[in-house]
Amino acid sequence: MPVTVVVGAQWGDEGKAKVIDLLSKEHGYVVRYQGGHNAGHTVVVGDERYALQLIPSGILYDHVVPVIGNGVVVDMVTLFNEIDTLERRGISCARLIVSSHAHLIFPWHQAWDAHAEAGRGDDKIGTTLKGIGPAYADKARRVGIRAGEVLDASAFAISLKDRATAENVALAAAGATVLDVDAIVEQFTVLAARLAPYVGDTVSELHDALAAGHQLLLEGAQATFLDLDHGTYPYVTSSNPTSGGACVGTGLGPRDIDRIVGITKAYTTRVGSGPFPTELLDELGEKLVDIGREFGTVTGRRRRPGWIDCVMLRQAVRLNSLTELALTKLDVFDTFEQVRVCVGYRVGGTTLRHYPDRIELLADVEPVYIDMPGWNQSLAAVREPGQLPAQAQDFLRLVEREVGVPIRIVGVGAERDDYLLWS
Ligand code: IMP
Repeated sequence: MPVTVVVGAQWGDEGKAKVIDLLSKEHGYVVRYQGGHNAGHTVVVGDERYALQLIPSGILYDHVVPVIGNGVVVDMVTLFNEIDTLERRGISCARLIVSSHAHLIFPWHQAWDAHAEAGRGDDKIGTTLKGIGPAYADKARRVGIRAGEVLDASAFAISLKDRATAENVALAAAGATVLDVDAIVEQFTVLAARLAPYVGDTVSELHDALAAGHQLLLEGAQATFLDLDHGTYPYVTSSNPTSGGACVGTGLGPRDIDRIVGITKAYTTRVGSGPFPTELLDELGEKLVDIGREFGTVTGRRRRPGWIDCVMLRQAVRLNSLTELALTKLDVFDTFEQVRVCVGYRVGGTTLRHYPDRIELLADVEPVYIDMPGWNQSLAAVREPGQLPAQAQDFLRLVEREVGVPIRIVGVGAERDDYLLWS
């Protein structure tokens, strides 16, 4: 399987980093293909906890070449904070390659993100305020600055000053917070010089790696239902986390990809605004948040909890051509008397098995649940499918049957080795 894509099948925070960490063992390259430092990937190795936002989590393995693909938007401040933190902890980042076509994030993108959110009043998207949307907007408007531009320091300095000045005029005119242009030019000229040695032609690098027989792992950030085209628009991110985005964001073609792993939690969470049919607004939801530690890695925000939703997961299979699922955090249900699995949406007297095209409908649908008894025991030490309590096995089989693809990896705890291969 030369190229594997890992994609979130829900609204993010499914535990992708843990699965990527596990799969990284067999891959020579781990490649981020979209998003930026709005992502938060946590890997727990023994007593050490690594929280990464931009650098592919494969960095934790010496044999992996980590790549930031052309589809990513790169905040250099975060990138170098991450590099410095990892290197202080003994992990070399020298082999990191950043695509020359990746767009860079600057303080005006964050200023615009904050200004747009403030202007939405009660109808906020709930962005991470990292400047992601404005950076992708600049890319689409063809005024963005790309990583490759840092290779020509004097041209970069001119472009930086021009853009910062123009953006400041526009920010002032819009009544937004203005920037200190000179300070930005000074700070980002230094960062650009630091970025230069990492910048490369990642398209050639990845195709050459494939030709040389390497296995590549393409790491999605955010998730299917935050996809700009297929998610719950406008409550989405500004990139394409779905597997098609993995081609666009790396320069690999669709026929290069053979395995596409969708990650789902045993339940669902979402951060920020937007419809959420299986949302739990009661004390069971509180229990999920407490036990599952459902607070954002990047913003610290409480995640909204709910039951697993097979209607969404069926749609994720279609949108991504998922070949399998990895189901994480099954252990969070260890003390639940009952668990529920949403298998359809009831609306206007009919039951939908497929995700509605009109997102507005999601606010009115009533989930159709199948209730399953809990297992009332700890899964912490389970490493073989046969050791799982019958109720947990039934839960996994029901999800597989309803979604229509096999579950291969099942997570039963936060640590690197807390998983089992179910099928
Ligand atoms: P943005 O990506 O910062 O523009 O935020 C847009 C939406 O995506 C908001 O609802 C965020 O909470 C959500 N979002 C962005 N990144 C992540 C993530 O890594 N996990 C979960 N939600 C995210």
